[in-house]
Amino acid sequence: MPDTRKPYLTERPRRNRANPRIRALVEENQIRVDKLIEPLFLLDGEKKIEEVSSMPGIFRLSEDNAHRHVEKSLKLGIKSFILFPIIPDFLKDTSGSYSYSEKNFYLKIISSLKKKFPEALLISDAALDPYSVDGHDGIVRNGEILNDATLEVLAKMSVAQSEAGIDIVGPSDMMDGRVAHIRHALDAHNFSHVGIMAYTAKYASAFYGPFRDALHSAPKFGDKKTYQMNPANAREALREARLDSTEGADYLMVKPALSYLDVIYRLKIATTLPIVCYNVSGEYAMVKAAGEKGWIDAQRVRDEMLLSFFRAGADAVITYFAHEFALAMQK
Ligand code: PBG
Repeated sequence: MPDTRKPYLTERPRRNRANPRIRALVEENQIRVDKLIEPLFLLDGEKKIEEVSSMPGIFRLSEDNAHRHVEKSLKLGIKSFILFPIIPDFLKDTSGSYSYSEKNFYLKIISSLKKKFPEALLISDAALDPYSVDGHDGIVRNGEILNDATLEVLAKMSVAQSEAGIDIVGPSDMMDGRVAHIRHALDAHNFSHVGIMAYTAKYASAFYGPFRDALHSAPKFGDKKTYQMNPANAREALREARLDSTEGADYLMVKPALSYLDVIYRLKIATTLPIVCYNVSGEYAMVKAAGEKGWIDAQRVRDEMLLSFFRAGADAVITYFAHEFALAMQK
């Protein structure tokens, strides 16, 4: 006789969690090192290395040190890098003209990295803020951000980066129509093989604070709300995704990542392009700070966070944790 005092359960999900072998078998998502994109902050000059104070473990590097760093990352299995320049104030102007100047050190570093490490996938930043005296992503006139005038500079910058040998350009500016404009310019200059990773749903976020410290690129007046998206909106991200897709983007990006997992998921099901998310500076800084205080186990939180991006649907993740995660995988 069966014991009727025992509950009869047709399903016992715990059976699939009983031991590490079973858990591995039913595991739905993994973090792969070759799905991580490592951001690098680049300085002009030689033998320079400066830690970003609000991002422990992250450094601004001159060309020589960037080469050394990329070599180490490649050995760890990282294959992709997204590059950001720190432009000294005296090279900034209102139109960001240094961004496509022949003397631009960022373009030189792109060339030398590509030459030395042809196997590395290099992604650029195409936006005005590092080059602009106003610290905005677009050209400013009388306090307004000019959309169409900015497109011209973005196109010149993207062509210059392609001449330097970039694999993918990354417009992070949120101007309307920039993907189509850049695509046309690249194709017209015989760079149809260069991809575009569009910052599709880039929100006007407080999570960018440490990045702006790293680049000294905080806006000199106002905020970025007339071009970056309102954190309250998710449907609007679908509109941006439709535009970037039809304009010729090869990747759609959601940024920041952690507070926008729903947006990653929505874009994943609404489109057919690969989805990238940007685990931004403030997200990194929070984990590091709480870890240093002993309030959380920073390594486990890091892994849980990275996993959540893939679970939400990201195909690739830009993260300041790339190098330390890859190192941890070696152990
Ligand atoms: C600007 C840009 C920003 C980031 C990447 N590109 C900051 C901003 O929009 O002000 C932020 C990245 C991060 O916080 O890690 N074009």
